Amino acid sequence: MQLLYPKSQLLPAKAIIAVLIVLTLSFIARIHAAGCEHFGSKCPKNGPCCNQGWCSADIKFCAMNCDPVNSFSADSCLPTPGCVSFRDNFDNAATLMPQGNFSGNPFLANWTSDFEPNNAYIKDGKLVLEIRQDRTKLNEYGKYQGFGTTVSSVRSLHKGNITARLRTASSSPGVVSSWITRNVQGDELDFEWVGRSPRQVQTNWYQNGVFDWSRGVFSDLPELDDASASFHEYTIGWEADQVRWFVDGRCVRVLELNGTNVFGRSQQWHFSVWDGGSGSPSTAAWAGGPTNWTGPDSVYRMEVDWVEVQCAQEMTEEQRKAEWDRWNSRPNRTLVTTTVMGGGVTTTQGTPTTTMSGGVTTTHGTPTPTSNVSAGPSKKVGGEVWILSVVVMAVGLAFFELGCNRA
Ligand SMILES: *[C@@H]1O[C@H](CO)[C@@H](O)[C@H](O)[C@H]1NC(C)=O
Ligand SMILES: *[C@@H]1O[C@H](CO)[C@@H](O)[C@H](O)[C@H]1NC(C)=O
Ligand SMILES: *[C@@H]1O[C@H](CO)[C@@H](O)[C@H](O)[C@H]1NC(C)=O
Ligand SMILES: *[C@@H]1O[C@H](CO)[C@@H](O)[C@H](O)[C@H]1NC(C)=O
Ligand SMILES: *[C@@H]1O[C@H](CO)[C@@H](O)[C@H](O)[C@H]1NC(C)=O
Ligand SMILES: *[C@@H]1O[C@H](CO)[C@@H](O)[C@H](O)[C@H]1NC(C)=O
Ligand SMILES: *[C@@H]1O[C@H](CO)[C@@H](O)[C@H](O)[C@H]1NC(C)=O
Repeated sequence: MQLLYPKSQLLPAKAIIAVLIVLTLSFIARIHAAGCEHFGSKCPKNGPCCNQGWCSADIKFCAMNCDPVNSFSADSCLPTPGCVSFRDNFDNAATLMPQGNFSGNPFLANWTSDFEPNNAYIKDGKLVLEIRQDRTKLNEYGKYQGFGTTVSSVRSLHKGNITARLRTASSSPGVVSSWITRNVQGDELDFEWVGRSPRQVQTNWYQNGVFDWSRGVFSDLPELDDASASFHEYTIGWEADQVRWFVDGRCVRVLELNGTNVFGRSQQWHFSVWDGGSGSPSTAAWAGGPTNWTGPDSVYRMEVDWVEVQCAQEMTEEQRKAEWDRWNSRPNRTLVTTTVMGGGVTTTQGTPTTTMSGGVTTTHGTPTPTSNVSAGPSKKVGGEVWILSVVVMAVGLAFFELGCNRA
């Protein structure tokens, strides 16, 4: 995500960012020093996979977002599904699966729908992401918040070209749409659109989960006219020495990597829509809020016509066969006898949705820690954050409130 602030604010803002970076790193260091956070050490043999701080033998914990450093052994986590070049015209609704139903098996889905799973679906040859207002409760800013969704790829790429032909949801000030690559370590390459500026596309990059908004580039493109009204092709071209962002084949930004290994890890690709206009005052100002929720059934929709991925490092036939064999020698789901360890408590999970005394709630077996501390942020901001970036985001929101003025 992005924040716009005047140049005069840059110096204090940088100082604040520096402090926050130190705080974030020390926080991460503390987690690592403690092993798998809620278990207190490295995961044990009978619950070998560390995922978002919890240990389990559940295949879901061992697949997506599994942390190899704090798992029982280096090979406890399943390998991240590698890159396979493909084009998806969104003709098959079954290629998208709710994240809570997905085991991690890359042969069963191409996409997962995260957060509010019903807000993403494939219909009439389009991937649709919706954002709707939740009128049941006010958020901490005294507003009804819109809830969006995030759609994530199952596979990841390390360099290559990814293109999506899409129409953003940002037809109201406050509504934010994004098309990005990202990994659990917080490396990220972004396209973002805010409803305040329908002719503008914003690009940015982050490393190690440090949100430095000052590197954002805002490109006003007359040909976009209104990015929520017409389809355009947005490409991220990630090469060894540079990253380029293209709109309809025209390069709008180049990031030279200067021989550094800044993007040395593979990243998944994601679409997301979220309500920035109902968030903190500075997020709302960036996104152009307040979001217009006055219509009788206000809903904003982003539509993706197709996606094309060209991997620089294509999986070989042998690698794909090994991956297939690995998945087909395991049960697809292990919901019934999942053991989750954390907070000193070992609990056997009998039903798909159970709240445990250790403070973890697993929805259909998804490892989603919701202690009283973390449940707030991950739910409240909806599509604004990925679960794993709650900590970094909390730091980011603190940064907003610390006086980083809007433009
Ligand atoms: C993934 O996408 C490819 C290309 O569109 C398609 O052939 C394949 O069936 C999809 N896989 C799943 C599991 O949906
Ligand atoms: C996801 O899982 C739930 C609960 O097990 C089930 O009711 C639902 O049909 C599943 N949805 C899909 C798309 O597989
Ligand atoms: C590479 O150098 C340029 C020019 O100094 C700078 O703008 C850019 O951010 C650098 N790239 C990285 C990845 O740090
Ligand atoms: C908000 O949306 C409603 C319903 O779509 C529309 O009638 C109204 O003009 C919009 N308000 C603003 C300020 O754009
Ligand atoms: C990505 O596109 C560029 C042209 O813009 C091309 O030179 C390069 O080979 C492509 N990379 C892959 C992996 O297809
Ligand atoms: C996993 O699910 C797929 C699709 O439903 C099925 O074809 C396959 O046999 C299952 N594998 C196992 C080991 O149950
Ligand atoms: C959360 O806090 C409430 C009220 O303080 C308490 O009753 C509840 O047990 C707590 N839940 C967890 C999971 O710690």
